[in-house]
Amino acid sequence: MRKLTLLFLLAVAAIFTACNNTQTADASAMKYSITEKPFGVFENEAVTQYTIANPAGMQVSIINYGGTLTGIITPDKDKKPGDVILGFDSLSGYLQKGNPYFGCLVGRYGNRIAKGKFSLNGQSYQITVNNNGNMLHGGVRGLDKVLWKATKLAGDSSLQLTYTSKDGDQGFPGNLAITVVYTLTTDNSLKIEYSATTDKATPVNLTNHAYFNLSAGKEPTILNHELMIKAEDYTEVDTLLIPTGKLPAVKGTPMDFNTAKPIGRDIAAVKGGYDHNWVLRRTGTGLEKVAEVYDASSGRFLEVLTTEPGLQFYTGNFLDSTLTGKYNRVYGQHAALCLETQHFPDSPNQPGFPTTTLNPGETYHQTTVYRFSVK
Ligand code: BGC
Repeated sequence: MRKLTLLFLLAVAAIFTACNNTQTADASAMKYSITEKPFGVFENEAVTQYTIANPAGMQVSIINYGGTLTGIITPDKDKKPGDVILGFDSLSGYLQKGNPYFGCLVGRYGNRIAKGKFSLNGQSYQITVNNNGNMLHGGVRGLDKVLWKATKLAGDSSLQLTYTSKDGDQGFPGNLAITVVYTLTTDNSLKIEYSATTDKATPVNLTNHAYFNLSAGKEPTILNHELMIKAEDYTEVDTLLIPTGKLPAVKGTPMDFNTAKPIGRDIAAVKGGYDHNWVLRRTGTGLEKVAEVYDASSGRFLEVLTTEPGLQFYTGNFLDSTLTGKYNRVYGQHAALCLETQHFPDSPNQPGFPTTTLNPGETYHQTTVYRFSVK
C-alpha cells in the first residue's frame, strides 16, 4: 500500500513538473529575442547581424554596417514564413560597388541635392556628388557606408544604432549625432525612429531604403502588387530626377494611387518607371497611414505610417539582373519596390518645400512604421 502511495505521489509530481515545463516553454516562446551573428569585417571592425524575433513569428535582421535591414521574415496567408526584402547573404554583397542601397539607412540627406550645392545662412556648401553630377543619398560615403554602434535595448524588441557624422563629412556643416531605433512590435510592425542633433545649421533628411517584394520571391516583379498612396500631388522632376519646383496634380495621370491599383497598370506610361516623391495628404504632423501595398499571391499586406511629408516610390527601375542576392535570386528590373518616407528632394534649393534645416538646439525626429499582415 505504502509503495502504491509513493508511486501515486511520484506520478502526480511528474505530471506537475511536466505541466510546469510546458508553461515555461510556452512562456519563453511568447518572448522577444535578439540573437547575434558575425557578419564579416569592415575596415578592421567586426560587423554583426542582429535578429529580432517577436512572439508572432516575425523576424527582422539588421547589420551595423549602414544600419542595414538584411531580412524581414513575415508569415503569408498560409502562415508560411518568407523574406520580403532584397539583400545579400554576406557583407561582400553589401560592399560591392553596384549595391543599390539595399535596406540601408540613408543620409545625411536622402534623395538628391542638385549639383550637391546649397547655401545656408549666407554660406555656400558643396557636398560630394555621386549621381550624374548631383548628390544622391548623402554623397560618396553616406551613412549607408559607415559602421554604426549597435545597442540591444531592454525588452529584446529594439536595436538602437548611433553614429556621429563629423563637421564637414561629405561637405555637410556641423557634427551631426544620429540615433536610429528599430523596434519590432507584437502586431508585426517594424517601427523606425530617427533622431539627430547638430552644432551648426545643416540639412537633414533620413530614411531607410528597403526594397520590398511581398511575395518573398514567388513573383519575380512587383508589377502585380497593388499600391495605394494618399497624395494629391507629386514633385515634378527633370531628366536627372531633380525637382523643377512644380507640384503637378496626380488626378487623371498614371501617378494617381489614391485608389489602390496594380503597379504595372500604368507604369509603361511613366518614362523609366516610378521614381518620384509624392506629396502626402496628411491631417497633421503625427504618425499617419500614408500608403498600403497588397500582394494577392501571398496575401501579404503592408501598411506604411510616417511623420514625414513625402514618400519616394521607386520601382527598382535600375535593377538589371546583374545582382544575385539571398536565396540565389537574380534581381531583374522591378524585382522590388521602395517606399522611402522623407522630406522632398532638393529641399535646400527649393524655398517652397518644407524646410530640412536642423538648427543647433533643435532635435530632428522622424518615425516610420512598416506594418505587416495578411488578407
Ligand atoms: C532613387 C533612385 C535611385 C535609387 C538607388 C532611389 O531612392 O530615387 O533614383 O536609383 O534610390 O538605389
